Amino acid sequence: MEAETISEDIACSETLKTIYERRAVRRYKDTPVDHELITKILDAGRMAPSAINKQPWKFYILTGKETIKTFSREIAKVTARVFAKEHPGDVAKAAFHFLHMLKAGDLFKRPDPIFHGAPVVIFITALRENEWASLDIGMCAQNMMLAAKALGLDSCPVGLAKYVEQTKIFSRLQVPFSEQVHLAIILGYGDETPEIHKRIRNNAFFIE
Ligand SMILES: Cc1cc2nc3c(=O)[nH]c(=O)nc-3n(C[C@H](O)[C@H](O)[C@H](O)COP(=O)(O)O)c2cc1C
Repeated sequence: MEAETISEDIACSETLKTIYERRAVRRYKDTPVDHELITKILDAGRMAPSAINKQPWKFYILTGKETIKTFSREIAKVTARVFAKEHPGDVAKAAFHFLHMLKAGDLFKRPDPIFHGAPVVIFITALRENEWASLDIGMCAQNMMLAAKALGLDSCPVGLAKYVEQTKIFSRLQVPFSEQVHLAIILGYGDETPEIHKRIRNNAFFIE
């Protein structure tokens, strides 16, 4: 598939440029991220719109290398179990598809199969009974990823992180039972520049 390019009119707006330059980055340098930057990114998330202004998001942040690896491996184990249960006849194919090009066999060989070696992992939760929470959190997460890009960092949303709830180490996050983990955002200094995925464009319908 042909790669996307950024046109000149987009490149001259800082906001649009940031939107177009953000990528899901899955390889990171071994450089830690300053707490001040993490705080700025959290603040950008807090600026997101939310249904009836509930601001339902809570953030649980991991910055310890070994802790991140441990959570990653435990989540990978649950992910493999979930896929084995949901796709009993075709585990390898399902894992291949959902684990974003990770071969099923590689899952346990990688030191950090879920968080891709990023130095910061931010789990985002909200109260379970909030019907708008996943939309609010999607907006919050996108604000955070754009802020990260604007501050010179890269990121990736990690939906599989929701399986942290089923790991045996979940209690270490101290998330109350009333909250649900929706996803995690990983942050760090990227060590790859993936091409922009071609965007589908025949999906807008103007009605007069
Ligand atoms: C809700 C959601 C969940 C995602 N979960 C994962 C994930 O678990 N692991 C991962 O590596 N990428 C994950 N991604 C990243 C997507 O694969 C990525 O955004 C998509 O391929 C488009 O690439 P781009 O972000 O570079 O445009 C997720 C993205 C979204 C929006």
